[in-house]
Amino acid sequence: MSDQTALSFAAKSAPADGVAVVFAGEGPSLTPSAQDLDKKSKGLLAKAAEITGFKGKKDQAVDLVAPQGLKFARVILAGTNKPASFTQEDWLNLGGSVRGLLAGKEAPAVHIFLETADGKVAAGDAAMFALGALLRGYKFSKYKTKGKKKNGEGADANDRTLKKIVIHCDDPKAVTKAFASARAIFDGVTLARDLVNEPANVLGPAEFAARAKELAKSGVQVEVLAPKTLQKLGMNALLAVGQGSDRPSHVVVMQWKGAGPKGGAPIALVGKGVTFDTGGISLKPAAGMEDMKGDMAGAACVVGVMRALAERKAKVNAIGIIGLVENMPSGSAQRPGDVVTSMSGQTIEVLNTDAEGRMVLADCLWYAQERFKPKAVINLATLTGAVMVALGKEHAGLFSNNDELAAWLTEAGTATGERLWRLPLGPKYDKMIDSKVADVKNTGGKWGGSISAAQFLQRFIKNGTPWAHLDIAGTAMSSVDSEINRSWGSGFGVRLLDRLISDHYERR
Ligand code: BES
Ligand code: MN
Ligand code: ZN
Repeated sequence: MSDQTALSFAAKSAPADGVAVVFAGEGPSLTPSAQDLDKKSKGLLAKAAEITGFKGKKDQAVDLVAPQGLKFARVILAGTNKPASFTQEDWLNLGGSVRGLLAGKEAPAVHIFLETADGKVAAGDAAMFALGALLRGYKFSKYKTKGKKKNGEGADANDRTLKKIVIHCDDPKAVTKAFASARAIFDGVTLARDLVNEPANVLGPAEFAARAKELAKSGVQVEVLAPKTLQKLGMNALLAVGQGSDRPSHVVVMQWKGAGPKGGAPIALVGKGVTFDTGGISLKPAAGMEDMKGDMAGAACVVGVMRALAERKAKVNAIGIIGLVENMPSGSAQRPGDVVTSMSGQTIEVLNTDAEGRMVLADCLWYAQERFKPKAVINLATLTGAVMVALGKEHAGLFSNNDELAAWLTEAGTATGERLWRLPLGPKYDKMIDSKVADVKNTGGKWGGSISAAQFLQRFIKNGTPWAHLDIAGTAMSSVDSEINRSWGSGFGVRLLDRLISDHYERR
């Protein structure tokens, strides 16, 4: 849910309300603002640092409550170790960890004096810090009915929710400007997290499509293709997955034309949107099945990226296509052994109805190429459990037919901390999915499950189309806690693809 905390940037004035956060590098070497508070409090900060063994290291902090001689209710001295060597990701994570320090001791206002002991913080870095602080503040509390105030506002002396964060910096104007696109990215990540966290009784294919439609407000053209249209288009692989559900399947097509007609062919982003994956007739075991409400994280990411691009008015032509289905077992569900004809004309033997994501993507990928002739196609999917066996939860799997695109994606992953690890494709793996009765089968046997799934997708990529597939099963949901995320749905991929696009696909 969107963060209700107002965030602003101001010059280094000396306000007196709420909580102050100041920094120290290794030593500890206090920043000018920290020194100022130390002086005003007759050496309280230095003394507290000494008593607690604070050396200005990362993840070290001293918390001073009701400090004598200061008007702040609380002063937090946070360590940065060596900020001179910080990457953008370090600034992002610092913003997240500072927001984490504030949790539970929230006063209405927090003043963060963002500076290093020996120099200024660049505007872009300060914007990253702010983004990290916002991302860490995300909470999905929509369904918590306890502890909520009945009528939003009202002065309550015990109200500890954080209402505003003011970041004091050298050049607030420049930082405010740099922060504009960070705010758009935050909105995109928030939307993706919200969609992934939403339970499947609330968010089925139609409801997801309605949420995507809201992007029209930001200037994205949105079309929702209903089942009849999908039938006419011949998207039988996608429809087969959804046929066991009472909730009709949908495909949503989003277009952001930020580069105009001269911008040329678009980049296409395609997302798996299985709003719930029971496995179908090849039913999944009960334990952990609840996690399959997040099997639409690829689609959520695509919608999140489209929002970010539109809100920051990115100079790019981008298409988002998401296949929305619910995979249920019922009297109308597809059976193992069924053969369906995909939109591409290729026939698919359905050996396992739980290998449904690739069938949804097969038709969406084909549709994207037929209609838009994109200059590159990137799909995202919580496609296989096997990718977690291979890579754990720290990297998403990357498969590509194009070394340049793979390198660009890997670099964007390193820059944003949404890391990718490339896995192989090849003719011998492709053989694994040859079928005896149809053109291709939807499972490839026991070993290399993520690879055979990727090979399946590649059969629906036209020769010469640069394509990458990101298997985000381990990174998009049930995520490990990080400095910038405490939510079940991480919004993985939004920052990554936004970065890829701004580095390589935007008109200058
Ligand atoms: N949605 C699952 C993959 C998944 C598993 C995502 C766990 C996140 C967490 C996918 O549809 C699936 O069921 N894949 C099967 C493929 C198999 C039947 C070939 C898998 O990974 O077991
Ligand atoms: Mn499945
Ligand atoms: Zn699935």
